[in-house]
Amino acid sequence: METLLTQRTVSDVEDAARRQRFPRGAALEFDDISVAGREGALDHVRETEPITWAPAIGGWLVTGRDAAREVLARNAGLTVEAEQNLVRAAAGRMMLTVDGDEQARMRKPFEGPFKGSVVQDYYAAPLLELVTELIDAFIDSGEVELDDAFAAPFAIRTAGQSLGLSLDDIPAMTSIYSAIAGGMDYDGDPEPIRRAEAACEQLNAILLPELERNRRNPGHSLTALLAKDPQGLTDDEIVAQLRVVMFGAIETIQASVLTTLTLLLQHPEQLDQVRCDAGLLANSQEEARRLIPPVAFMERWTEGAKVIAGVEIPAHEFIGISVVATNRDPATFADPTSFNIHRENSNRGLSFSFGPHACLGIHMARLQTAIAVEQMITRLPNLALVSAGPASGFAFRRPTNVVVRW
Ligand code: HEM
Repeated sequence: METLLTQRTVSDVEDAARRQRFPRGAALEFDDISVAGREGALDHVRETEPITWAPAIGGWLVTGRDAAREVLARNAGLTVEAEQNLVRAAAGRMMLTVDGDEQARMRKPFEGPFKGSVVQDYYAAPLLELVTELIDAFIDSGEVELDDAFAAPFAIRTAGQSLGLSLDDIPAMTSIYSAIAGGMDYDGDPEPIRRAEAACEQLNAILLPELERNRRNPGHSLTALLAKDPQGLTDDEIVAQLRVVMFGAIETIQASVLTTLTLLLQHPEQLDQVRCDAGLLANSQEEARRLIPPVAFMERWTEGAKVIAGVEIPAHEFIGISVVATNRDPATFADPTSFNIHRENSNRGLSFSFGPHACLGIHMARLQTAIAVEQMITRLPNLALVSAGPASGFAFRRPTNVVVRW
């Protein structure tokens, strides 16, 4: 039975002293971290307080990129194994919510299948087939809402494809995923966590029989590989990892595709350049994820007392990283608020995290986004934006109501 760290309660006296020492963090509101158009408040905090005391999130907030890397680095003395970890509460115990040897044990069986060359060989052709089918379904309509017509079904069906699962019931999967993602939005309300737990149970009821089915009919999918060679993981452990692989693969891919297309459509002169030189697509998607990171917030806790960016943080305290803020740090990114597909260091954003928990699916994510975006802009040469809602969200971000016409 493992023991989870319990987040330390900060006394009123400590809180008052910290508010005085970190006035900009103290003045931050929750909406500054979660609502589109409020990013300037994070920029203001970062100028003098790259790690700050932020009562709005009940802990420390990191807005500076270097400070964030100190928090995320291997052996930094930070942990994800805390009772208050929202990802664990919403999605259970798996590689993203354990540390050290246990995390390595859970992650290792998945590393081979997620290598860049393996992903390219196995998935490029089926991905292209799927995108073609999805675009065929709406190409005659002339106008669609991009998320409903393309990004969401693409993300769900590609997750099913790579895992070897038949996730045909898209509305059901969408509601499971909304419930799990909803559990990760911190607002102190226990109800979303209860809904997320129920959604995990629903997902287990889909995944366990799929594992069995793959055991009988092995193919090249991830589930089939794990069913055949579990490398010491029990069925429940495999399913727990598949839950995070699927979660990682759905919400974020949907966001990555939507964000890249929306930003390119909002910058038609850059879109024209990509149309003329497909080689620019790779950096376009890195730049889009830098500006609107699909995973917008990450959580860690101090194991012992720890100095970060010159600030001493006591043991068992909560540190949240705003990826929105770290990816706009002017110390790394010149003119950070502009979308520039020629930026030379777009990939230095922390959109795929850093350190031991760095995204397992990075090559898959890049391949999926590239194929989806490339097919949309080549098959619909007159594609133009009708309207797009802002990209909001605390834990996850993506533009909303993106209507396109061609
Ligand atoms: C553009 C799309 C994606 C983005 C932006 C993204 C982002 C991230 C981030 C930020 C983390 C680390 C969170 C933390 O450190 O607290 C992460 C971890 C992870 N991602 Fe991704 N991800 C994407 C796509 C994918 C895909 C396609 C898969 C799998 C098919 C995947 C699987 C995972 C897994 C399993 C982890 C946990 C790794 C661990 O804890 O060892 N992700 N991802």
